[in-house]
Amino acid sequence: MIDKFRETLSYDDVLLVPQASKINSRKEITLASRFGKSILSVPIIASPMDTVTGSVMASAIALYGGMSVLHRYNTIHEQVLMLKEYLFYTGRAGLESPLDHIAVAVGMNGDAIERASKLVSMGVKYVCIDVAHGHHTMMRDTLKQLRSRFGRDIHIIAGNVATKEGFEDLVEWGANSVRVGVGSGSICSTRIQTGHGMPVLQSVLDCASSQHSGQAYIIADGGIRNSGDICKALAAGADYVMVGSLFAGTIESPGEVIMTDRGKVKTYRGMASKEAQNAWKGTHNSIEGISATVPFRGPVSAVLDELVVGIKSGLSYSGAFDLEQFSARSQFVRQTSGGQAESGTHILGRQ
Ligand code: XMP
Repeated sequence: MIDKFRETLSYDDVLLVPQASKINSRKEITLASRFGKSILSVPIIASPMDTVTGSVMASAIALYGGMSVLHRYNTIHEQVLMLKEYLFYTGRAGLESPLDHIAVAVGMNGDAIERASKLVSMGVKYVCIDVAHGHHTMMRDTLKQLRSRFGRDIHIIAGNVATKEGFEDLVEWGANSVRVGVGSGSICSTRIQTGHGMPVLQSVLDCASSQHSGQAYIIADGGIRNSGDICKALAAGADYVMVGSLFAGTIESPGEVIMTDRGKVKTYRGMASKEAQNAWKGTHNSIEGISATVPFRGPVSAVLDELVVGIKSGLSYSGAFDLEQFSARSQFVRQTSGGQAESGTHILGRQ
C-alpha cells in the first residue's frame, strides 16, 4: 500500500538559495530565449482562455516580445477572424514577424484537424492541442494526424500532463512543447471535483528529470501568482510559464471593466466552468472550474514590466545573467511552516 504514496512539493514549500553574484545591474540580465524558431523576450505565455487571450491581448503581448495562444472556444470562422485582427493590429504597429508570437488552440476531436488546417494555411506555425487531461490515447491520435498532415512544418504544443510518464509519451507522440500542470490553475476545481492533480512545481521537477528532457519545452501551466513563482518554475526546469489570472484583469483581456464597491474588476473564468460551458456549448460536461472576478490592473505591458523586474531580480539573486545559467545554477531548499510564515510579509500579524 505504501508505494501508492509519495511526497510532493509546491511553490510555497520551497525557496531559492541566494548565491554569489557578479551582476551590477538588472540591465546586464536577459530573459530572451528560443521558442521553436522564434526568439521571445520574456518566458511567459498567455493561456488559451476566453477571458484572457483574444486578438487584442495577443497583439499587446506580441509587441512586448512574448507569446500567447488564441483560444478555441468559438467557431473556426471566429478563430480565423481573431487571427486576422491580430495580424492587422500587430501589422499596424510595425511588428516584423507577428506569426513568431502567436499560437492557436485546437481541441482533441471534432473539428481539430480542420481548424488547424485553416489556421496553418494562414501562416500559423504554432498549434496548441489544448486539453485538460492530455495524457490520453486521443492526444496520441491527434498528434499523429497533425504530424502526418503538416510534417515538421508546425510546432505542436500539447498537454496538459502532470507526470513524467505523461511528458515522455507526449514527446514520443511528437509534441515539441508540453504544458505541465493539472488542477493547479487559480480557477480550477478539478482537484475538488475529482481528487486528481499534482502540485505543479513537482510536475515540472519530475518532467525535467526525464530522459526526454530537452527534447521538448516544458511550459509550467497554472497557479502562477507572482514573479517569485515564475522564478521557482524556471529554476525547477520549466522553459516557459503559462499564465491566466495574472493577465485577466488587464485592459487587453476580452470583456468589460465592471465597477463594484471593491473597485474596478474584470471577469475571469475557467474554461470548464458552468459559465464558459453555457457560453460556448450550452451543454455541461463535468464542471471543473469557477467564474470569478479579478482586480482591474491597467495595461498588460505594466503587468509584464513588473514581472520582468521581479524575474530579473530573481536571476540576480542566483548570480545568473540569463535563463540558461539560472536553470543550471539555481538551488532549492525546502521550507518548514515556520519558513513559510517568515516568507510572506508578516508585520501585520505582529501583536
Ligand atoms: P492561472 O492560475 O494562471 O491558471 O489562472 C491558468 C490555467 O488554468 C487551466 N484552466 C483550467 N483548469 N478547470 C481547470 O481545472 C478550468 O476550468 C480551467 N480553465 C483553465 C489552464 O491550464 C490555464 O492555462
